[in-house]
Amino acid sequence: MKALFDVLAPAGEDYALARAIDPDRLPSHIAIIMDGNGRWAKRRRLPRAAGHRAGVTPVRSTVETCARLGLRALTLYAFSVENWKRPRAEVETLWRLLRRYLRGELDLMHRHNIRFTAIGRLHALPDFVREELDSVIRSTAGNKGLQLNLAINYGGRAEIVDAVAALVEDARRGKVIIDEAAISARLYTAGMPDPDLLIRTSGEMRVSNFLLWQIAYAELYVTETLWPDFSRAELLRAILDYQKRDRRFGGLTPGSLVDAPREEGQAERAPGHNVQPNPKRSINVPPDVDPDVESGSVETVGIPSR
Ligand code: FPP
Repeated sequence: MKALFDVLAPAGEDYALARAIDPDRLPSHIAIIMDGNGRWAKRRRLPRAAGHRAGVTPVRSTVETCARLGLRALTLYAFSVENWKRPRAEVETLWRLLRRYLRGELDLMHRHNIRFTAIGRLHALPDFVREELDSVIRSTAGNKGLQLNLAINYGGRAEIVDAVAALVEDARRGKVIIDEAAISARLYTAGMPDPDLLIRTSGEMRVSNFLLWQIAYAELYVTETLWPDFSRAELLRAILDYQKRDRRFGGLTPGSLVDAPREEGQAERAPGHNVQPNPKRSINVPPDVDPDVESGSVETVGIPSR
């Protein structure tokens, strides 16, 4: 986080916001639905393409700020599987912008030790986009800082379908354990931490088919700000808001039961019942677990080959 203070003026609002952030409780992974480019342009009586062009500036500043904060991952929703329904000219503008962005930002990625990745049905993208993506992925593969992950031609349901298809294929070749880890390991995001914070701009209260599996326990932050106006201050405010949340992962806040009177006949609580689960773990097993789960017995499926 120190790297962020290197570029903040001590008298500015961003500095005050950054000072208020607890560096020990930063989200590991932020995911963002960048929405509102079209409305931004419309309000200025400009073509939609102007909104997308203006959307590149906050992409740049958000990436740099996340890198300076020392976050592990940032996933940006750049193009959904449904976005093909837009006019062809708009889709082509987006591809050209993406190529220009990737070419123009390579230097900054290396300067900040950023590793670039992309998720989605990338094989269906135009060749010139795929080639640019591959080149930046290869060039930054050795970087150890922020993972900048672009979701392109991405759909959460499509991703789950692809993961299930891979699981079935693996099951054909041998026995496969079917559990949450087996699905996670076959998602496009395999190996990444799940997002802790999902930000959506432009005020829409939807998740729009984005990272459906991975956001199961993400904190949501929706701002009215349109994406081209999304500033560093807005990102810092979202992180501050996230730090005020009480993340329980389906369990209880530590201490919340301490003073509650015990009901007649109620046994003393088992140790550990009230412990805040480690956010890095995806499963929180309560003390009165199903014996099958406790003993680790899980369903296995073997599909005979055809
Ligand atoms: C949603 O706004 C935005 C998109 C579909 C594209 C996102 C693209 C960018 C932010 C620009 C370039 C990105 C990169 C990574 C270089 P919308 O058009 O749906 O807005 P509206 O809901 O107001 O119409």
